[in-house]
Amino acid sequence: MTQTILATGGAGFIGSHVTLELLTAGYKVVVFDNLSNSSPKSIERVARLTNGAPELVVGDIRDQAALDTLFESHDIDAVINMAGVKAVGESVEKPQKYYDINVSGSINLYRAMLRHGVGKVVFSSSATVYGMPEKMPIDESYPIGPLNPYGISKRMNEQILEGMTAANPGWRALLLRYFNPVGAHGSGQIGEDPTGTPDNLFPFIAQVATGRQPGLKVFGNDYPTPDGTAIRDYIHVVDLARGHVRAIDFLLSDAAQDNVAEVINLGTGSGSSVLQVHRAWQDACGFEIPYDMAPRRAGDAPESCANPAKAKDLLGWEAEFDLPRMCADHWKWQSANPQGYEGS
Ligand code: WQD
Repeated sequence: MTQTILATGGAGFIGSHVTLELLTAGYKVVVFDNLSNSSPKSIERVARLTNGAPELVVGDIRDQAALDTLFESHDIDAVINMAGVKAVGESVEKPQKYYDINVSGSINLYRAMLRHGVGKVVFSSSATVYGMPEKMPIDESYPIGPLNPYGISKRMNEQILEGMTAANPGWRALLLRYFNPVGAHGSGQIGEDPTGTPDNLFPFIAQVATGRQPGLKVFGNDYPTPDGTAIRDYIHVVDLARGHVRAIDFLLSDAAQDNVAEVINLGTGSGSSVLQVHRAWQDACGFEIPYDMAPRRAGDAPESCANPAKAKDLLGWEAEFDLPRMCADHWKWQSANPQGYEGS
């Protein structure tokens, strides 16, 4: 019997890649997305790329009635909760928005799961919960210390799910802490399509490469790193998506235990500096990408790099794609869709 996964936020950057990999793995997928930061075109293209069209239900996780209707009309076996807002800077300016959507919206979803007897959940968490890490690489036992409302909202979800999983029969959860998801599906058909000016490095460089931005500002070259620029654990979004499939496979298997919520890092275990990313991008697109040095960005850590051993041990998953492939695939998407989905 084909199992059905509810993917909230399943039309977004991470969500559309997760939806594609779930369909490819043979699951049925119901996407629940309010399209506030995504396009239905991502789902149309996922349908073209796979043999099974995902069902798109447009709705908001804060809408209790919409969730009840969805659970009443579908036999959901597990939920991947990726719905939410994710800009660190904006979360500092508008914390109420982040707590309303990422926390009370998620609580609404989890209570709907309780009402409808669905107890298996994968949560889209973030390495931001680690705050300003000092010792590398970071494993799941590393001290938690989110520094902004976005990271706090992710940690609150983890704590809510740890509590609900412990208290409710048949509940089990995997809390996936993403490091830096980048790149795009190798077809160039789906990818990151940020609204407004991107905050993150990869989509910003991509817009410099297509001429939408004049040049890259490198935020700080006085960090205690080999070339002075900050280091991150960039992970190809297809690797990340396949990690979600392994997480669902695990939760739906006898290998998983009820009443247990496991946190799992999803990263490659190797870090790249801003200047290394810049060079890899120039190699990928075949031309120079202008950049200037600028002061450090407030709140940035010198380094963030995962220890991905637990994901390998528990899920049998590890990242496959390297930095050149991340840049090549991101560039293939962006050059084929210079204005994103709506401009295509
Ligand atoms: C990476 C490096 C910047 C832009 C964030 C969120 C995290 C997750 C991933 C959701 C840093 C530098 C950036 C630019 C630059 N999102 N940079 N010039 O900050 O590590 O993580 O995105 O889960 O929660 O915090 O990613 O891509 O913004 O920055 O020099 O124009 O690139 O200073 O060193 P970050 P990033």
